Amino acid sequence: MKDVYILGIESSCDETSCSIVKNGREVLSNVINSQIAIHEQFGGVVPEIASRNHIQNISKVVEKALEDAKIGFQDIDAVACTYGPGLVGALLVGVSYAKALSYSLHKPLIGTNHIHGHIAANYISHPDLKPPFLCLVISGGHTHLVHIKDYTEFEILGKTRDDAIGEAFDKVARVIGLGYPGGPKVDKLAREGQPNIELPKTHFDNLDFSFSGIKTAVINLHHKNPDVNKADLCASFEKTVTDILVEHALTAAKGLNIKTIALAGGVSANSYIRNEFLKLEKQGYQIYYPEPVLCTDNAGMIASAGYYNYLNGQIADLNLNAIPNLPIQAIS
Ligand SMILES: Nc1ncnc2c1ncn2[C@@H]1O[C@H](COP(=O)(O)OP(=O)(O)OP(=O)(O)O)[C@@H](O)[C@H]1O
Ligand SMILES: [Mg+2]
Repeated sequence: MKDVYILGIESSCDETSCSIVKNGREVLSNVINSQIAIHEQFGGVVPEIASRNHIQNISKVVEKALEDAKIGFQDIDAVACTYGPGLVGALLVGVSYAKALSYSLHKPLIGTNHIHGHIAANYISHPDLKPPFLCLVISGGHTHLVHIKDYTEFEILGKTRDDAIGEAFDKVARVIGLGYPGGPKVDKLAREGQPNIELPKTHFDNLDFSFSGIKTAVINLHHKNPDVNKADLCASFEKTVTDILVEHALTAAKGLNIKTIALAGGVSANSYIRNEFLKLEKQGYQIYYPEPVLCTDNAGMIASAGYYNYLNGQIADLNLNAIPNLPIQAIS
């Protein structure tokens, strides 16, 4: 089969990114312009500022991605862009740019679901990985346990009923004074502590998650006792949420008789979570997660997911719009 080159564009939150991916698996370039330093002073992403920065950066990021990949616009087979979920103004920058590119180059346009992208990051890091498998999508806005039935077929087995796990990490970090974005900072400090503080776990009679209870417990504990050992608190928080993730993933894996479990999304960069899942290999499970740069938002994962949409004939037209709350099951 002829090689397929996809130009991917990601702009759903505060990263402006463009990537060229060959055959869905080989990253020729992945340029990521992060706005973290800009939003840090506000303690979180300011949507309007994010959109403006995407507009300022997108052309430069696309040009650099082509330059790094050493190819030209004429070598691309299709343009894929994230059209949801995400911040509407931020998404619209990438969607509009991708439409203009597709129209002017006479190349197909592919709308890509950002969460499909997080899952597809695993295809780049692990060329041997193929559906079916289970995937825990743990990111800033999502906590989904997903059955990946095929490259473009997804079933949600469980999801958070309140906060996303990444939000909980960020909130805990903010309350104990670690700053934004909190996940990596909690990860680092937890390595110096012991998980010796008991925190609540919320259980439902299905595979749904809840993280608002544990988040509130950490906040209350810190307010009542500001001298509490922060490293121990981080380690205890990480252990409690990880126990829940492992428990749910195992229940689903046993129920479906699936032996392959992948992690995806920004929180899957967490070293404790990765190690705890790796321990399941002793029980005969195969564990996958993307390399750190592919865990958080990047266009490589969007080009990879877009490739599988392309093979499946899921081509968009110029009516493609940004959908801020795009569900994971939607055909993209
Ligand atoms: N090492 C880490 N440990 C824990 N959390 C982490 C780590 N690195 C990043 N994160 C968290 O990952 C989140 C960002 O991930 P990601 O970029 O996938 O989310 P998002 O794009 O904002 O949300 P979504 O993908 O759900 O729309 C943040 O909450 C951040 O704190
Ligand atoms: Mg994301």
